Amino acid sequence: MDQLVESDKTKSIEHPLNPLTEEEIYSASRIVKNYFAESREKIFFETIQLEEPEKSFVLNFKKGMQIPRAARVNIFKEGKIGVHVIKVSISEERVISEEKYSDAQPMIQLEEFLDIENAVKTDPRFIKGCKRRGIVDLDLVCVDAWSAGFVASEDEKGRHISHIFAWVRNSPTDHQYAHPIEGLNATVDIKTLEVIEVIDVGDIPIPKTPGNYISEFEKNPRDNLKQININQPSGVSFEFKDGKLLWDKWSLVVGFNSREGLTLHNVCYDNRSICYRASIAEMVVPYGSPNKTHARKNVFDIGEYGIGKLANSLELGCDCLGSIYYMDCWIADTSGNPMKIKNGICIHEEDHGLLWKHYDFRLDSTEVRRGRRLVISSISTVGNYDYASYWYLYLDGEIEFEMKATGVINTVGCIPHSGDKYGTEVAPGVVGQIHQHIFCARLDMAVDGEKNSLYQCDTEQEASSELNPFGNAFYVQEKALKVEGGFKRNPEKQRYWKFVSETRKNKMGKNTSYKLEPTGSIASFHDPNGPSGSRMKFIFNSLWVTEFDREERYPAGEFVNGSKSDDGLPSFVKKKRSIKNEDLVAWHVFGLHHLPRLEDYPVQPVVKTGFKLMPVGFFDRNPSIDLAAQKNKASCSVKDS
Ligand code: CU
Repeated sequence: MDQLVESDKTKSIEHPLNPLTEEEIYSASRIVKNYFAESREKIFFETIQLEEPEKSFVLNFKKGMQIPRAARVNIFKEGKIGVHVIKVSISEERVISEEKYSDAQPMIQLEEFLDIENAVKTDPRFIKGCKRRGIVDLDLVCVDAWSAGFVASEDEKGRHISHIFAWVRNSPTDHQYAHPIEGLNATVDIKTLEVIEVIDVGDIPIPKTPGNYISEFEKNPRDNLKQININQPSGVSFEFKDGKLLWDKWSLVVGFNSREGLTLHNVCYDNRSICYRASIAEMVVPYGSPNKTHARKNVFDIGEYGIGKLANSLELGCDCLGSIYYMDCWIADTSGNPMKIKNGICIHEEDHGLLWKHYDFRLDSTEVRRGRRLVISSISTVGNYDYASYWYLYLDGEIEFEMKATGVINTVGCIPHSGDKYGTEVAPGVVGQIHQHIFCARLDMAVDGEKNSLYQCDTEQEASSELNPFGNAFYVQEKALKVEGGFKRNPEKQRYWKFVSETRKNKMGKNTSYKLEPTGSIASFHDPNGPSGSRMKFIFNSLWVTEFDREERYPAGEFVNGSKSDDGLPSFVKKKRSIKNEDLVAWHVFGLHHLPRLEDYPVQPVVKTGFKLMPVGFFDRNPSIDLAAQKNKASCSVKDS
């Protein structure tokens, strides 16, 4: 398949939603540098991402049309507070607009992590705290730069703050998270790298027992499993054509940006539109310990760091098994230079077990079809945790998102065997605190057209004894939701939501629709008005629905780092716009509830959450009924050996 080996360098833009190329990032940053050249102030680039064209252009786009390309460039200035959002026409080599957000803080940049660590490790107060705990070799100390939330203190007012936690290795390759330096924290001004305060409290000993996971420490590796190979001898069933990814009846555009990472666009089945744009637009990890320094831990890994920028280069045969197509991802570093994440996105097909089957015992005949799915994935590492994002497309029209969380729990020290009400002592003197990983998917739905309506569907037990003489009656009650807002989950009523086309009907005369199955919805335990709760108000509903506005992009607001309150979804829905037969955006909140287990240490096996979008009367029958019967001839029968 020739398209699949084409190098990124030579690839021209074929679709208006294809992500920015290396050359385009370079052009955008050059235009912005020229724009600021006279001011002689040093500028840093927070993000350079595709400024998506108007929907009307994208939806009417035909191959061969000129594609106007634009970028949204966020910059910040040396020593100055605020973020400038510069919209740039790459095609016309000019700045379209500039907006300055004086109080906004940029995301914490990858390049700043090490600067912050160095600043702390050379601070005499921090060194004193280390020495007091018997640490002689500062090279073995690791300092993680956490976002600091919002604290109304004079020290931190008007500054960009990182709040740090520290660990120490026993040896240069030893796993530091097994050895938290409890009670030693610092706040750092990210702009000036001034260490504002070093907090050194308590006498919790540093746990010395190693908790290693890298192979060099495993003396007796378990190596009894034989190989599983995935072969596709006739090639893969997907291809790229005109900038779109095509597989079976599916077509879509795969995008990527430094904040949200992977994005899907124009997702269609059999040329029928389902979703205009899908991404995981925010993620926050609230911790549950009331301890003063730990109570600040409420990190927005997407809004404050950007999981795109932190995406891994994936490895064949390790991260990805089988016949893999990799996409390289291009983002910008803080100097505005293009930065490549080689093999940032993995695309492949997976066998997915049984799709459908029936055995007719009278005819003694069986019909069976195996399912498979197209997987589009990427993995990002944010400090101690690793997040693997998987979008699955199925043969029967289902779309699924799965987030696999793995990596290392955030570790905290305690007096060995003392336990912790707000966590689990996973090793002597090492606590993993209770926390949640809460995600918000932004789903710009377009079920059979841009305009949809929304229904909330609850299952009710029949209350009328006259209608329910045997006590068995239950039914689904649909309620039309007319005004944008936030909606709660209700597992007791098997609640789901349906996005309905008002223009297309199925063969039974009902409007076609897709339902959102909230399989990973989650309860919240934070005070919505507390310092953390007020910054993440989006988590207090399972679904928000808004009318589309291209500037309403992120659930907790455009600028999250150091924010005082959530100016995302709660403020969007205040407009009380109609959501009846309108261009709707669904924002689905889901997540993981995590009291660490001993089994999550020293590295955590994958835990999963996600959601499903399933056709409900979108098709007139099982859309996978026409699959040809096939028998996999490479399968063989084995005897006990
Ligand atoms: Cu966790």
